[in-house]
Amino acid sequence: MKRQVNRELLVRSVCYAIERKQAAEALRKANDELEIRIAERTTQLAKTNEELKAANKAKSEFFTNISHELRTPLNSILGFAQVLQRADNLIPEHKESIDIIYQSGNHLLTMINDIVNLSKIEAGKMHLGPQYLPLPEFLKTVVEILRIKAEQKGISLTYQPTSSLPAVIHADEKRLRQVLINLLGNAIKFTEKGGVTFKVAMLHVKESSAYPEASIRFEIADTGIGIAPEQLEKIFLPFEQAGNSRNKAEGIGLGLAISQKIVQMMGSILQVQSQLGEGSVFWMDLDLQVVTGIPRSHPSLPDSE
Ligand SMILES: Nc1ncnc2c1ncn2[C@@H]1O[C@H](COP(=O)(O)OP(=O)(O)OP(=O)(O)O)[C@@H](O)[C@H]1O
Ligand SMILES: [Mg+2]
Repeated sequence: MKRQVNRELLVRSVCYAIERKQAAEALRKANDELEIRIAERTTQLAKTNEELKAANKAKSEFFTNISHELRTPLNSILGFAQVLQRADNLIPEHKESIDIIYQSGNHLLTMINDIVNLSKIEAGKMHLGPQYLPLPEFLKTVVEILRIKAEQKGISLTYQPTSSLPAVIHADEKRLRQVLINLLGNAIKFTEKGGVTFKVAMLHVKESSAYPEASIRFEIADTGIGIAPEQLEKIFLPFEQAGNSRNKAEGIGLGLAISQKIVQMMGSILQVQSQLGEGSVFWMDLDLQVVTGIPRSHPSLPDSE
């Protein structure tokens, strides 16, 4: 009886061992297959990635080339429109037509530049070129550029800089101007009543690094149409526009996508809070190097565009 039990136990353990071996074998096979599949996928992904990069590069080159072809005749149109605008023998209807030619041409030029900007950013070809920048003067000029637009719409544009702004910083003037003009331009474009307030506040100064660094908040608030909560994330995507079609006609929805990328390149993030029908606030906190003693010669880095 005891021998019978032992034999059964032996048979059972042999069966169990065989089953375990088979299971281990199956597991190893499945593992090998999985690894082969992962390797295949990885190669496939790497290939797709390379193809995408090549396509992006081709797109960027295409836009850069075509933009040159488009800009050349457009600049002639704008130049001659400006010459005609200055003529003093024009009847009012003709003057108005020439103004429209000039404004539309200018608008087209902005759109071409925006498309080139975005494709450059996507191809990783946009680089910041920081220079010595007299901040208070720079900001005043930006506000003056936009003031005309606000006046034309009959809304206010209030500029509130903090008194403690650093006199000179190290930043990419062209890109900072591009972001601020887009944000202020949007605020004016989407506001019919009330106005726009542009605040520049000093958050803190970090003295720890070799150069002092000022953390500055740039905030643009408006009393305009506002943005619905479900649209808030989308507006930073290229070609995304919220709101009604009348305002859409005045742009192609690239300004915020480009601005967000530039602000990210500057190490920050563009933020927004908005209430439909009440208005919007866009802001960014930038850490900017404060220049204390400007050397006699200070060559600026070459402009990338
Ligand atoms: N201050 C604002 N108030 C209300 N809506 C805004 C405001 N700023 C942006 N938006 C919304 O976000 C969308 C995207 O803005 P973005 O600047 O990218 O494009 P755009 O101004 O329409 O066109 P572009 O900048 O290319 O001329 C706008 O179309 C608008 O719907
Ligand atoms: Mg815009």
